[in-house]
This record gives sequence, C-alpha cells and structure tokens, in this order.
Amino acid sequence: MSSIPNRGLMQRLLIRKTVEQVQRETESSPLKRTLGPWNLVFLGIGCIIGAGIFVRTGNAAALHAGPAVLLSFLVAGIVCALAGLCYAELSSTLPVSGSAYTYSYTTVGEFAAWIMGALLLLEYGLAASVVAVGWSGYVVSLLGDYGIVIPLELTGPSGHPILRDGVAVLAADGSPMTSLFNLPAFLICVALGALLVFGVSESAKVNNVIVAIKMTVIVAFILIVGWYVIQHIDTLKANWDPFIPEATGADGEFGWSGIFRAASIVFFAYIGFEAVSTAGQEAKNPKKDMPIGIIGSLVVCTILYILVSIVMTLVVNYKSLNVPDPVAVAVDALGPQWGWFAKIIKAGAIIGLTSVVLVLMYGQTRIFYTMARDGLLPKMFATVHPRFRTPWINTILVALLTAVAAAFFDINTLGDMTSVGTLAAFGIVCLSVIWLRTTHPDIARGFRVPLYPILPAFGIVACFALIFTVETRVLIFFGWYALGAIALYFVYGMRNSRLNKGEDQLSGPEMPEFKEDAINR
Ligand code: ALA
Repeated sequence: MSSIPNRGLMQRLLIRKTVEQVQRETESSPLKRTLGPWNLVFLGIGCIIGAGIFVRTGNAAALHAGPAVLLSFLVAGIVCALAGLCYAELSSTLPVSGSAYTYSYTTVGEFAAWIMGALLLLEYGLAASVVAVGWSGYVVSLLGDYGIVIPLELTGPSGHPILRDGVAVLAADGSPMTSLFNLPAFLICVALGALLVFGVSESAKVNNVIVAIKMTVIVAFILIVGWYVIQHIDTLKANWDPFIPEATGADGEFGWSGIFRAASIVFFAYIGFEAVSTAGQEAKNPKKDMPIGIIGSLVVCTILYILVSIVMTLVVNYKSLNVPDPVAVAVDALGPQWGWFAKIIKAGAIIGLTSVVLVLMYGQTRIFYTMARDGLLPKMFATVHPRFRTPWINTILVALLTAVAAAFFDINTLGDMTSVGTLAAFGIVCLSVIWLRTTHPDIARGFRVPLYPILPAFGIVACFALIFTVETRVLIFFGWYALGAIALYFVYGMRNSRLNKGEDQLSGPEMPEFKEDAINR
C-alpha cells in the first residue's frame, strides 16, 4: 500500500482524478457502442417525462402561475438548456460512463465531487420518492374508477389534511381527517427495489416501448383535448383571462414572482435529460451524438410540456388543477363520454411513472456504488451479490430511503428539495466547464459550448437565481442538508478517499462489475 502524501487542506479539497485515470477505470468496461442519436434522444425522454408533467404542473398552475405556467416551462427549459450545453461539452470531452459526480472529480476536485454526490442523492433518490407519490395519486384514482377504494388515511403524507375535490374530509366527530402515510408510494419503492436487487433492469426495447406509451398518451391528450378546446374556444378563452393572474402580495403567488416560483416547480419535469451523458461509453459517436441526445430530448419535451399546459389551462380553470391527477381532471372536463380516455391516460401515466421511479432508483444505486469504489462511502455500498451480481445492500438502503420519504412527506416539499438540489448540481456542472477550459485549454473537445464564457456563466447565475425562488422553509432544510454533507466529508470521505492514498478505484475479483449499463440499453 502506498503511503499517504502529506497535503495541505486546499490541496486536499481540490485533489483531482486525471482524465487518464477516469478513462483507465472505465476502459475495461465490456459495454458496446450501440447507441445512435435517436436512441440517445429516447433514453433522455424515458427519464424526463414523469411526475413533473403528470402531477406537478397542476400545483404550479393552481397555486403559483395560473395559465402563465407555460412561461414557467419556458424559463425552466432555458435554464436546463444552458446546463444541457455544459453537460454536452463535458460528456464529449470526458466520454466516460458516469455522472456529474465523475465530471466534478475530474475537474474541480474531490470536495466538489462529494458535494455533487450529496446533491445527486436529491436529484435521483428524492426524485424517485416524488415520482412514487405521483404514481400513487394516479393508482388511487384509477382504482377508484373501478370501485376499489384504498382507505384515505393510507394515501397521503403524514399529518396532512385529507382533501376530496379540494374540500377537507371530516371525521365522524366533525374534525378534519388527516392521513397517516402513503402506502401505495411506499410499496412501489419497495417492489422496484426488490426488482433491482434481483437484477431486473430495463433493456433498450422496454425503454423504447415505455417511451412510446408516454409519448402516445401525451400526444393524444394534446390532440383530443386541443381539438375540444378549439371547438369551444369562445367559452373556454375565459379561462385565460387573466393570463397572468394578479399577484396576491405573498411571494411566489401569481404575478411575475409566481411565474418564477412555478418555474422552480416545473423544473422537476426536465430532470433526467442529463441521463444521456451517463451513456457516453455506449454512444456510437459520442462527440456528435451526445449533444444531439441531450439537447434533442430537451427540445422535444419543452414543446410537449408547453402544448400540454396550454390545453390544460384552457379546458379547465387553473384553480381546479391542484390535484394528484391534473391531466385526468382536464380530460374529465370533456364530459362523461370521454371517461374511457381518462382511464387510458391514468394507465399510461402509471406505466410511465413506474419506469421513471425504476430509472431514478437505479441511478442512485450507481452513484453510491461509484462513490464507495472511490472510498468516499463505506465498502458495503459496493458489495455485489454473488448470485444476482447487483449491489444489493446499497439497493436495499436506497429502496428503504426512497420508500420512507415517499410515504411520509408531501410531494411539494419533496419536489422542491429535488429541484433545489438539482439546480445546485447543474450550477456546479456549468462551473466545471469553465474550470476545465481554464485548466485544460488544449484538451480535445467534441462539442464546445457556444458563446463561452457567457453561456456557462449565465447558466450558473440562472440556476442559483431559480434556487432562491423556492420557499424559505425548503431553503433552510437544504442549508442544513448541505452543512451535514460537508461535515460528513471531513469526518468520513476525506479520511477514506482512495485517491488521496494514491490508489485507483476498488477493483478485482471481489468486486465484479455489476450490470451498470443494462438499464437503458
Ligand atoms: N423529470 C422527471 C419527472 O418529471 C423526474 O418525473
């Protein structure tokens, strides 16, 4: 074992993996380069379309932006495009399988990578909880259509009043009923965790089928509801009057502050586009195809999201959209003869959301796995099951973590925490581009962010500006979370880092590669 060099604190925090080291650590990978630009666009869309559009748009419109939620989608889309261009540059420069965690380790250094790991726990782990809560909303609604009623106390976050059609449900003694926990959301996380332990993961074919189902449902919604809106535009146009509801005076409630507040909510709907960058090793022509995959999937989703929000806020008044299944509520407005279509929408949403939870949980296990191989987390996170060849302890922990968060917390708090964590992560990615251009100006880059350094710098500012639009309560939670993560680095990560000891990632027969590529092929 090599002796640990004596480094000063700053040198320690900024210790970096070299590009060559990251490539060496991954070059033994058996992955084949099979993904073309369209596969990559589909890969992105598979992760992107989920609870953001199917659930959170309703809350954003009803409580913050009104019909102007479509402007919020535009704002969030622009912020993501800036981060997306930076992801595209990093992935074409460092085409290794990995995430923003690996990019940070190679550019800014270990401390930034550690912080990135903590932020990705919000972006993947907590996002899985958000989508599981959204999944639960559609399942409860669809089962209700068939007369199967899950007790209301078991369908919501702990201690929250139970609402039906926006009105508090009262107990026999007249007091408002509150929910105990969200059982369906808990169960889906546990069930998908079990599948991941047994090594069941998606193949490219399954991913493409699920993307096709999600796209069909959304496009059918836009066409059918849009056609209805055009037929009845004379009466329905009142729903867009006013287009930007007057600000109430409270921060983030309508007016322009509401549009920006809603942008941080619907930002959730875009999370996942950067998943394309994790497929760097599988792209046939990463330098050309990765930017197409990232930006292409973002553009397709932005167009779909804006069209959905236009028809949704025209067909019903935005005030009625603060429900667990706003897309179905919009279809209900077409009349009872369209009941079958509402059911199809719900079934499509359930299938689509299941796959997003699976992909997010999978992504989280992979990040923990990589961090454990770097020595930044305990070895057990990299322990691979001898038979299933999956990181089973890690997966069980991730499943329990996401299940408990989904069961006990409300979707808005979880979703806001996810947005804040992801925006901070995107800010660091933009910073990494500037860092790498400054420290390695001559390295070959397949794709370069245009208008450098204006766009990456603007990306950093835009990400942080959007963070500060969320509720103060969530920012305080986030502040404590970040402080806890920093403390943990000094207590554990810094002392156990393999890079600091001059060692490569854990490897060898006791640590066989698990099928970390399988999910999206
Ligand atoms: N963008 C993903 C969703 O909306 C995380 O569910």
